[in-house]
Amino acid sequence: MRYEFETSHIEPLIKRAVAEIAPLVEAKQIHFESAVEDPMPALRLDPERILQVLRNLMGNAVKFTPKGGQVSIAAKRRDGILEVSVKNSGPGIPAESLGTIFEKFSQGSHAGAIHRQGTGLGLAIAKNIITSHGGNIWAESQLGSGSRFVFVLPC
Ligand SMILES: Nc1ncnc2c1ncn2[C@@H]1O[C@H](COP(=O)(O)OP(=O)(O)OP(=O)(O)O)[C@@H](O)[C@H]1O
Ligand SMILES: [Mg+2]
Repeated sequence: MRYEFETSHIEPLIKRAVAEIAPLVEAKQIHFESAVEDPMPALRLDPERILQVLRNLMGNAVKFTPKGGQVSIAAKRRDGILEVSVKNSGPGIPAESLGTIFEKFSQGSHAGAIHRQGTGLGLAIAKNIITSHGGNIWAESQLGSGSRFVFVLPC
């Protein structure tokens, strides 16, 4: 994958990813919340690539949230790190799948994975992109109580 890094801000990318998914959020009557700290620091990033990560995380969150559920996105800074998290209510992900979902073509076998729209590449690509930014990405979940995907970037 080729990267074009620039010194830029993440807020407009979050705004765009949120705006793009809004029709689906509305159609599924999902309660959506955004908590982006203001101001956020500028950082070295490839905007198209980070947008791709945000689209997949938001897309997944909405896809795996049942009708009437909750999705939220938060972004904040803590020393030297910018943290973005996307959280959703719903079936959650079993502990044994939390690592493997970041592998290519992995779509899990848990209850939440009944929605098999997609290729199972989104998170593998996201991991590649975030790692190339010197960051880290992971998932946290408890079966039955939704999931939270987090990525951190140096800033
Ligand atoms: N928010 C989530 N809640 C529950 N399971 C999830 C969530 N996000 C990802 N997963 C699980 O991880 C798998 C891999 O996600 P990934 O984004 O890589 O692929 P996909 O969404 O199935 O397809 P693609 O992103 O290529 O369209 C999903 O199929 C699903 O089983
Ligand atoms: Mg996906």
